[in-house]
Amino acid sequence: RLRQQPDDRPPDSLAQAQTQAARCTRCDLCHAATQTVWGKGTTDAPLMIVGEAPGDHEDLQGRPFVGPAGQLLHRTMAQANVNPDRAWLTNAVKHFRFTPRGKRRMHQTPDRPHIEQCRWWLDLERRFTAPRLTVALGATAAFALTGNRKPLTPRRGTIEPAFDQGPVLITWHPSLILRLPPDRAEAALAELRADLTRAADLTA
Ligand code: URA
Repeated sequence: RLRQQPDDRPPDSLAQAQTQAARCTRCDLCHAATQTVWGKGTTDAPLMIVGEAPGDHEDLQGRPFVGPAGQLLHRTMAQANVNPDRAWLTNAVKHFRFTPRGKRRMHQTPDRPHIEQCRWWLDLERRFTAPRLTVALGATAAFALTGNRKPLTPRRGTIEPAFDQGPVLITWHPSLILRLPPDRAEAALAELRADLTRAADLTA
């Protein structure tokens, strides 16, 4: 069930937004997750990179893109000459969603209401960081940013307008690449690298 956040007066700064997001109860994910995982990077960066949601490692450490998918993203950014000091990295949804299986917490993709509630924070992040270009990693980020839920395959490598009209370059999520069989993973990784290279060029 979705609730209205009691304290959702628009904040004056990104830091104030982060403080408010730390006690967010806009959706149910806050109850089981360890903490809100806010974006990281340079606040006046020309490039924003948006993933899906924190995973197990991110939930525990409180930082985005520190687990296996994040490591693959950082390696690929380096190969594509994307300077992490010129980027703001964040997620469409800021709490980990999982189902317990024994001692393990199995990642679950956020549902549409989670994405829609969390768009409040994504919108604030975008207003305060004002990126020139945004890269959407995967379908959740693409939907959060553009409102378009169509399949990703024909959209990958294209630029769509965000809800605030900023350009969004659609690409694969690194965690998808980690799940593909080796031959398909290699091709998808080359596409992610090409898309990130283009993002670096467009924000040079
Ligand atoms: N996957 C994401 O989408 N975001 C993270 O922060 C980590 C993994």
